Amino acid sequence: MQKSWWKEAVVYQIYPRSFKDDNEDGIGDLKGITSKLDYLQNLGIDVIWLSPHFKSPNIDNGYDISDYQSIMEDFGTMADFDEMLVQIHNRGMKLIIDLVVNHSSDEHYWFQEALKGKDNPYRNYYIWKDEASEKPNDWISFFSGSAWELEPFSSQYYLHLFVKKQPDLNWENKKLRQEIYKMMHFWLEKGVNGFRMDVISLISKDSNFPNFPENRYGDLSFYANGPKVHEYLKEMNTEILSKYDCMTVGEAFGVNAELANLYVGANRKELNMIYHFDHAVPRDEICFVNPKPEFSLCEIKAIFRKWDNALANDGWNTIYFGNHDNPRMLSRFGNTKEFRNESAKMLATILLTLRGTPYLFQGDEIGMSNSNFKSISEFNDIQVLNAYETLISNGTHLEEKFLSASNKIARDHARTPMQWNNTKNAGFSNSGNTWLKVNDNFKEVNVAKQEPDKYSILNYYKKLIAFRKKTPTLIYGSYLDLRPKCENIWLYERNFEQVKLLIMNNFTNHVQSIQIEEKYSKRELLIGNYPTFVEDSETHFYLKPYESRIYNIK
Ligand code: GLC
Ligand code: CA
Repeated sequence: MQKSWWKEAVVYQIYPRSFKDDNEDGIGDLKGITSKLDYLQNLGIDVIWLSPHFKSPNIDNGYDISDYQSIMEDFGTMADFDEMLVQIHNRGMKLIIDLVVNHSSDEHYWFQEALKGKDNPYRNYYIWKDEASEKPNDWISFFSGSAWELEPFSSQYYLHLFVKKQPDLNWENKKLRQEIYKMMHFWLEKGVNGFRMDVISLISKDSNFPNFPENRYGDLSFYANGPKVHEYLKEMNTEILSKYDCMTVGEAFGVNAELANLYVGANRKELNMIYHFDHAVPRDEICFVNPKPEFSLCEIKAIFRKWDNALANDGWNTIYFGNHDNPRMLSRFGNTKEFRNESAKMLATILLTLRGTPYLFQGDEIGMSNSNFKSISEFNDIQVLNAYETLISNGTHLEEKFLSASNKIARDHARTPMQWNNTKNAGFSNSGNTWLKVNDNFKEVNVAKQEPDKYSILNYYKKLIAFRKKTPTLIYGSYLDLRPKCENIWLYERNFEQVKLLIMNNFTNHVQSIQIEEKYSKRELLIGNYPTFVEDSETHFYLKPYESRIYNIK
């Protein structure tokens, strides 16, 4: 197994709108991030992944870019970006930025030019089909409604897999690809250390634009892994990525474990890592009234086993439980009532001890949890608002049901402002209003409260991250699930060059008893998430609710 810095890194995702507001307009900004870099350095993370910071009309919070080489006005200026980057590097950390090139904003110059007519040189930067009695095919958007929008002036439809203000770019066009590589070059020359690539599995479309297969109507993963996706990624790698020591992670919607190594195999020369959706919260439109039940522990473990297996001898895995597109991991898998601290720490233990590069999402390190949105008007996310409009205007579904489902699955839960302290707006902003309301629990759950507390979630994260760094077994060691069929305990071994670790996690709010084999009887406790613990016997344990322990096996 080839060693590399990005395999050893701990990544921290910043959602800039919600991290820290410096100029007091209620919106997070780049200067705000710079002011918190000591905090991140202190936490011990290596790489910051910054969600989009580019100029954008902001219909999908920056995932709709109108100029790839300038900064979103809400976030500051290019000088602020340059200063932030210098300060990140000064602290020994790295920065990866979001590359959103499946689509642009309709306000991008390219699309504005394309609208001028069929002969415009930019027309072919997007995907157009002639008007007919029906839409070009039955594709639907990730954010409700048809994926085709009629442009009346030319009587052609353009494709938008997301909202209509996010037209899909035409990767078949070599000129477009060259523009994208030039833009990547611009950021790499500035010194950014790589890219997180937005829905990169969708960039190549089947040029026949077939309808959904009959038995898969509405299954959006049908758009993924198009015929030329690997050709494009290889070209991007040869032309740009291979020229820098940079890190890449693709958002791989619709890519399953069997296909993963086509993207990240060591000899493929495409990407370093991808992240999959197998354990993400399903959020098809219908889930906004009928959310799917949460995964059971056995299902989760099966997913992680499968991915670990698939990437064990080739490629490299990513580990995450939350991001800006999912509700808070603590609300999904932990217990926010009696065992908030314990369960947040247990999730941290798992996140930082599985094989693969861990991705932390801002606020998870203090145990932030889902908000309680009291009406639809409190949501900001276009996905929620569009789903609401479609479902409610159909008259088919009740408002109450919609609100309750959204309170489980909406992306806005992850996007509420970071909770720095117990003052106004949780110390996120000094303005009167924040762009999305602060979680009601900020007086209890905040950074300032946890910093001095030796047993806080935050300090547990610090301890784990530091431990991971000096423990090659946690990075390169094999992973063995010792209880695949147990619904209560996640118990596994990590093993590398004679250093063997045994890691146990009680996923329930009851005491659990575990019997282990003789070969684990000589051991030393390295880290536990309770201040005290009881060793029962050489081969038998009682684990308290949400208790985690990491043992060194002798
Ligand atoms: C990705 C982003 C998500 C965005 C979508 C469209 O899934 O993570 O936030 O809405 O792409 O760009
Ligand atoms: Ca601001």
